[in-house]
Amino acid sequence: MTIVSPITVGPEPGIAYSRRSSLATMARIVRNPLDAFPPEVFDHRLVVSRIFGRDRVYVTDPVLIHEALVRNADALDKGQEIKRVLGPAIGEGLLTADGAHWRWQRQSMAPAFQHGRLLGLLPAMIVAAEQTRDRWRAAKPGTRFDVGHDMMVTTFKIIVDTMLSGPGQIDAGRVERSVTDYLQSTNWMFALALLKAPDWMPYPGRKRTEAAAAYMRDAVLTMIADRRREAGAQDDLVALLLAAADPETGRQMTDAEVADNLLTFITAGHETTAVALGWTFMLLAKHPAIERRVVDEISAITAGAPIAPEHIEALAYTRQVFQEAMRLYPPAPMIARRVLKPFALAGVTIEADTMLTVPIYALHRHAAIWDDPDTFDPDRFAPEPTKARHRYAFMPFGAGARICIGSAFATMEAVAILAVLLQTVRLEAAGPMPKALMKVTLRPAETVLMRVTPRL
Ligand code: HEM
Repeated sequence: MTIVSPITVGPEPGIAYSRRSSLATMARIVRNPLDAFPPEVFDHRLVVSRIFGRDRVYVTDPVLIHEALVRNADALDKGQEIKRVLGPAIGEGLLTADGAHWRWQRQSMAPAFQHGRLLGLLPAMIVAAEQTRDRWRAAKPGTRFDVGHDMMVTTFKIIVDTMLSGPGQIDAGRVERSVTDYLQSTNWMFALALLKAPDWMPYPGRKRTEAAAAYMRDAVLTMIADRRREAGAQDDLVALLLAAADPETGRQMTDAEVADNLLTFITAGHETTAVALGWTFMLLAKHPAIERRVVDEISAITAGAPIAPEHIEALAYTRQVFQEAMRLYPPAPMIARRVLKPFALAGVTIEADTMLTVPIYALHRHAAIWDDPDTFDPDRFAPEPTKARHRYAFMPFGAGARICIGSAFATMEAVAILAVLLQTVRLEAAGPMPKALMKVTLRPAETVLMRVTPRL
């Protein structure tokens, strides 16, 4: 085998060098970054590839992922690619910041995600799901809905009602369209970042992307100005951000920094959960026996009563279904880091400036971890098999210090939405499962319309 990378390795099993032309990889990134993963990531532990003169290391062994993202967390940062792709929309908010700037922001926001506080948000989550249910049930039975879109509307309402204390200045429809518009061109932005092309470089859809980012920022800045005037009026994430002070310097956030974080939460906090729910409904429509088990569980737990906050925790199988859907279709299909100082992984020295990637999509379908990896089987997430698996075999929310701050929020809201909707409606989809297309998140390549019929 010809070594195409300056990274030096010993002959350990499960390590591969991927030799692909940089140009072909770039074309795949623009089309669909999932297709740009080297094929070896589905059955090797560590894959080294080189793109435009820079090493990229893919890690798909849970033990090595722990070693990299947890034990060597200090040797990594988020890198320029993510900042280039998401920075114009969300600046240096919690998702994109590094070092001390990240740490104090995370500490400031953590109280909004404490378990007790999240439980208090369940009624708002259930109300949002009920509104969607009522809209569906008011239509003629068998009407086809764009369920992916309706999930965006539902989760958007939840994030605004729970974290920003209600809509105020935010035009939900326009923000949702802006998020979609923004994500349209992100693969181009990613490709240009890899090429280290200058920031002014044009790309298809650039005007639309910039207009979307500008609209969202304006809307949020107006809201912040209002909230500064009526300080103390509400107890929500905005209040936490306005009051936060850096423990070392006492500095408070500027309006631009508060805006970065609100935009981070508005985007990261609804789109991911919505796409995960869209995939879950499509999978259930293809697996009627599993759907039956979910509906039976809901009936058993509620005894036919409307879904209430105290039911959510008990809906264990429904939660397993959501986890298995995120295994097959992880809403964030890869995470990436830049290596700041060298460290070793499986005998390979990972040099500074290497891009380290965990292709979560491939990890979740890896031949050495999962039996029959492409099959939808929620029993994989029953307590026993879960205990027997390495913690980082399944990581839709990431791992280590940068793990998703909203993971419990997302799981709670997803189970609530599934329960409210599946209790009273059936969803059916014609045709096979759509292809998965990555545009930061993992969306179906085409719009899927599903027939919605009330359950009697
Ligand atoms: C199913 C839904 C969700 C999925 C799959 C998901 C996935 C992820 C992943 C993989 C990361 C880590 C990224 C990395 O390591 O580079 C992350 C970070 C983050 N997520 Fe989520 N997320 C979801 C829902 C949410 C929700 C509901 C919120 C907010 C309410 C949220 C806010 C964030 C934030 C702010 C970060 C950055 C955390 C940090 O770096 O400290 N996410 N998410």
